[in-house]
Amino acid sequence: MSLTIAVIVGSLRQDSFNARLADALAKLAPDDVEFRRLRIDDLPLYNQDDDDSPPPPVTRLKQGIREADGLLFVTPEYNRSIPGVLKNALDHASRPYGDSAFPDKPAGIIGVSIGAIGTAAAQQHLRTILAYLDMPTLGQPEAFLKADDVLDGADIAEGSRDFLQGWMDAYLDWVRRHA
Ligand code: FNR
Repeated sequence: MSLTIAVIVGSLRQDSFNARLADALAKLAPDDVEFRRLRIDDLPLYNQDDDDSPPPPVTRLKQGIREADGLLFVTPEYNRSIPGVLKNALDHASRPYGDSAFPDKPAGIIGVSIGAIGTAAAQQHLRTILAYLDMPTLGQPEAFLKADDVLDGADIAEGSRDFLQGWMDAYLDWVRRHA
C-alpha cells in the first residue's frame, strides 16, 4: 500500500540536525512511501482574530496535512519543550474550532538533540498536544537521539542504522493500521 507522509520539522535552522535526520529517515522507507516536508517557516504568529481569513501559508499547511496518510514530527527540544515555531504550526492547523486538520491522522514523533536526554522532554509535551488533537501516536519504540551518536554528516551513523530502521518499520506499520 503506497503512503504519503507529511513531515514537520520543528527547527528552522539552516543546518538543522533534525532536518538532516528527517531526510535520512526517508531513505529507510520503501519506494512506495512518499515523504513531503511541510513548510512552517513562513507562517505568521497565530492570532485567533484571523480564523475567518487564514493566510495562504496556513491553508497550504492544512491541505498538506489533509492529503497525507500520516504525519511525522521530527523536532528538537527547546528549554525542555517543543520549539515555538512547532507549537505555532500546531495551533494554526488546529483552527478554526471544528476545522482542525489533525483528527485521526496517525503520527510518529522523533527528535535529535545535542543534549544527553535526546529530546525526551519535548517529545512528552508533544504527545500531550497530539492526544488533545485526537491523533493516534506511535508509542513504541521511542527514539531519543543524540546528534553525535546518530548522524554521520547527512547520513545515519552505522551504529544507529538498525535501530532507526526498526523505528521506521514500526512507524509505517502504525500508519498503515490507521490510514
Ligand atoms: C536548545 N537546545 C536544547 N537541547 C536539549 O537537549 N534540551 C533543551 O532543552 C534545549 N534547549 C534549547 C533551547 C534553545 C532556544 C536552543 C536554540 C537550543 C540545544 C539543541 O539541542 C540544539 O541547538 C540542536 O542543534 C537543535 O536542533 P536543530 O536545530 O539542530 O535541529
